[in-house]
Amino acid sequence: MTPAGRAPQRGDVMEHEESPLLRLSKLTKRFGAVEAVIDFDMEVFPHEVVALVGDNAAGKSTVAHMIAGDYRPDGGVMEIDGKPVQFQHTQDAYRAGVATVFQTLALADNLDVTANIFLGREMRGGRLLAEERMEQLARDYLGRLNAKIVSPRTPVAELSAGQRQCVAIARTLVGDPKVIVLDEPTASLSVSQTAEVLNYITGLRELGLAVVLISHSLTDVMAVADRIEVVRHGRNNGSFDTSEVKYEDVLSAITGATRWTRTPRPNRQSHGTVRRG
Ligand SMILES: Nc1ncnc2c1ncn2[C@@H]1O[C@H](COP(=O)(O)OP(=O)(O)OP(=O)(O)O)[C@@H](O)[C@H]1O
Ligand SMILES: [Mg+2]
Repeated sequence: MTPAGRAPQRGDVMEHEESPLLRLSKLTKRFGAVEAVIDFDMEVFPHEVVALVGDNAAGKSTVAHMIAGDYRPDGGVMEIDGKPVQFQHTQDAYRAGVATVFQTLALADNLDVTANIFLGREMRGGRLLAEERMEQLARDYLGRLNAKIVSPRTPVAELSAGQRQCVAIARTLVGDPKVIVLDEPTASLSVSQTAEVLNYITGLRELGLAVVLISHSLTDVMAVADRIEVVRHGRNNGSFDTSEVKYEDVLSAITGATRWTRTPRPNRQSHGTVRRG
């Protein structure tokens, strides 16, 4: 907490040293001859949104799939809340406190919001009791995100694209996660729906989670992220504090016009990138 007693917000300088909820060290993934991700480093602290940006095929989704337990890394170390983890399956990641939302969202249109939030994780017990409990919790998750959804009993087929994204994000809260990864949550959304989803992301930060935001939109990234990690050809190419960096510097890191080496970030205080060549 900050001295004022409120949850930390973007731009706050943290007084105490915290350890990251997610740390990737030299994470590597190859698909045959394709070097999708090589020696990739990244840390995400509680109450922090870190944007993972890069050109098409840079390796962003591959990083997300490794964090989600879909892909097994060929090398490197992944730590959740200070503990090294090796996921064999997405369920392992879920149990370790990782939730991921991919672009497909995987919602069932014919079911309502509550049923979608608990899809595959339905509560058991007396049928009515479990139904009521799930609806109550769904309402609670939507409330925490300040969701613009009137009723948790609304069929998902009736929701806007922004609201659908909200249901997918609310679903991640079921497992009480520490780390949330969002792969292109604003792709193909209108301006107002994008603003809505960026609000949900801010809500996740206020809940104290570590959020990884993968996005092609530097405007969205600059609006909501605390830091930016650039991946180029599967490797780190720059790590920036959003409050300090210029749009053009991020752009030139993405395109490779500028090359950066990255120093690890053991805590919130020490960190930096150094321009190369
Ligand atoms: N399952 C797979 N099998 C083989 N190659 C893959 C697989 N997944 C990703 N790749 C390759 O790994 C590289 C990185 O792909 P990835 O999807 O991670 O990029 P990305 O940064 O998410 O791109 P985009 O912005 O287009 O979503 C690409 O060359 C891609 O073709
Ligand atoms: Mg991708």
